Amino acid sequence: MNDAVTNDATRSSHDRPADARGAARPPLALPGLAGKTIVVTGAGRGQGLAESAVLAASGASVVAADLAPAAPPALLEAVAGLPGELIYRRLDVTSSADWADLADRLAARAQGVHGLVNNAGVAFRARLGEIERADWDRVIGINLTGPMLGMQALVPLMHQGSSIVNIGSAAALTPHHTAAYTASKWGLRGLSSAAATEFGGRGIRVNLVHPGYIETPMMAGAPAVMAQAQRALTPLERTGEAHEVAAVVAFLLSDAASYVTGAEIPVDGGFTSSMGVKYMSDAIRRATAEDTARS
Ligand SMILES: NC(=O)c1ccc[n+]([C@@H]2O[C@H](COP(=O)([O-])OP(=O)(O)OC[C@H]3O[C@@H](n4cnc5c(N)ncnc54)[C@H](O)[C@@H]3O)[C@@H](O)[C@H]2O)c1
Repeated sequence: MNDAVTNDATRSSHDRPADARGAARPPLALPGLAGKTIVVTGAGRGQGLAESAVLAASGASVVAADLAPAAPPALLEAVAGLPGELIYRRLDVTSSADWADLADRLAARAQGVHGLVNNAGVAFRARLGEIERADWDRVIGINLTGPMLGMQALVPLMHQGSSIVNIGSAAALTPHHTAAYTASKWGLRGLSSAAATEFGGRGIRVNLVHPGYIETPMMAGAPAVMAQAQRALTPLERTGEAHEVAAVVAFLLSDAASYVTGAEIPVDGGFTSSMGVKYMSDAIRRATAEDTARS
């Protein structure tokens, strides 16, 4: 392991604490990732933690970045004993200086950077009539400006065959009521497609993954009715787990996805593809069963 990026905390960890909500036990290992250096933002918990675990299980060097000054115990737990290495960095995705510092440190490593997962994000559930300017700016800054700064900083270190995965949301495919969040994720669609076009000639792929309702700390404070409504509208009739998103992200980072760029992949149990028709289908089934029972 190169010391250039290890000043905050670095471990090929050995302990195994709890609370990696949604991370698979043990994480899936995918081919085509061993030896790659991949940066994951928002890696301290939730989906970023699960993505870090799948990548470490697949033999990658994971540069896990988040706001905390040191690697959270749950992250160390999740990668304990896995073949890849974990290099933790404190990084605020809205800070150009933090990105420049990370790029400088990674540039000192001979192998360059093979992947970036722009995963860090915040939910903010205010509606358009309620949202205040400061909250709007904060959400757009983290969810949209952050990925832009990340790509600007790290693409110069990437070679042919590198891969960027941006984390959108089912809210980017629907008229979701959370104004700033939805706008930030729709914006990320535009940014991602522009990036796929711009970087394609250099052999760098850019794809977008749209999670549906995933059981992570982000959703812990959501009203219970939200999960109920989500299940009623989702063909698989359940919410998702972080490792189910992480596996798709890891595939897109791997050489197995070498001809996939500019794609948008929902990982949502069929929620967006069913366009609410499941609700109608279930209502018709219920009504028909009642009619049959009455006759
Ligand atoms: N959980 C869901 O249902 C869901 C659905 C759709 C999309 N998403 C998206 O998936 C991604 C991951 O979400 P999650 O559910 O794991 O959320 P989470 O809240 O559990 O984790 C988000 C992580 O991002 C970090 N973060 C926040 N601001 C940051 C910043 N400025 N710089 C660096 N790190 C920062 C947090 O510290 C946290 O560790 C987000 O982009 C989110 O919008 C989540």
